[in-house]
Amino acid sequence: MNYIGSKQRLTSFIKETIYEVVNDDLSKLIFCDIFAGTGSVGRNFKAEVKQLIANDMEYYSYTLLRNYITNSKVLKDTDALIEMLNTLEPQKGFIYTNYCRGGGTDRQYFTDENGQRIDAIRSEIETWKKAQKIDEATYYFLLASLLESADKVANTASVYGAYLKHIKKSAAPKLLLKPAQFLVDNKTHLVYNEDANVLIKKIKGDVLYLDPPYNARQYGANYHILNTIAKYDEFEPKGKTGLRDYNKSNYCSKPKVKASFEALIRDAQFKYIFLSYNNEGLMQVDEVKEIMEKYGAYSLKAIDYRRFKADKTANRNHKATKTEEYLHVLIKTI
Ligand SMILES: C[S@@+](CC[C@H](N)C(=O)[O-])C[C@H]1O[C@@H](n2cnc3c(N)ncnc32)[C@H](O)[C@@H]1O
Repeated sequence: MNYIGSKQRLTSFIKETIYEVVNDDLSKLIFCDIFAGTGSVGRNFKAEVKQLIANDMEYYSYTLLRNYITNSKVLKDTDALIEMLNTLEPQKGFIYTNYCRGGGTDRQYFTDENGQRIDAIRSEIETWKKAQKIDEATYYFLLASLLESADKVANTASVYGAYLKHIKKSAAPKLLLKPAQFLVDNKTHLVYNEDANVLIKKIKGDVLYLDPPYNARQYGANYHILNTIAKYDEFEPKGKTGLRDYNKSNYCSKPKVKASFEALIRDAQFKYIFLSYNNEGLMQVDEVKEIMEKYGAYSLKAIDYRRFKADKTANRNHKATKTEEYLHVLIKTI
């Protein structure tokens, strides 16, 4: 999934730094990815650590993590289930009615056909769960598969803060449900759907990886459609974009971010803490350093990184910008 702040292309930099600092066999350690998003960082350590803990305050992310992180045993009959879902008759449900042109609103997040396919697949997954035809592991596997496949045909520039007036090329093909593959490792991993500052008081481990939002853009607003597909609840969509009520993170607020970040570091019961942040964030590099160094031995790693960002005005043209990505490192002593 093309996700704001995804660390997929930075995983080798993150991994090398973590191995260098921890200087140990990770197979004895508990690793926590507490702002996990798509789970790209945690997933990369799944095979190597004793246990993963992953968390995100957004429900669509929790859904993905329940599949990619928690699922660790081979599931039965998934090919047949995917095939059944792919051959369902389209259905006029909540997504079609509220987020497709044919549904009667002006919104066009999906083609009419794909909106109806999402509705048909999402309803069937829920029916199977209620009838206990599938277990919880399979339920999250199918939901994650639907989120990933729906995102591929979304008619947006990048996020769901706006839809496009004309159907773009990648949004036109018929949605095909593809399996969201996960690593089978037969271990027990833990996944949460909480505010990081609340969860941190309840967990303990060795390596804590922090990848909070770095600017004011709230994930709940930018990915509201994914939450709606994952939850599939009834509500009154608001305004031009059909927004639902969404979580507001302190990490997206200039007045709140520093106090929340310091509380997180203070309450963390982890020896090694790594924070990904870049030079365009709400907190300045020196402010992060000032907070972290109060709690132990601090150091900083940096890497130049080319990322693509949507043009602010047209929200359409993607421009390559050079950003400096940091990995702030703390070996906690107090
Ligand atoms: C930069 S993204 C993480 C990206 C992730 N590392 C990846 O590669 O996909 C930040 C994530 O933090 C989550 N988030 C924001 N505030 C949070 C909070 N207070 N507690 C838990 N998660 C939060 C967002 O929903 C978002 O998924």
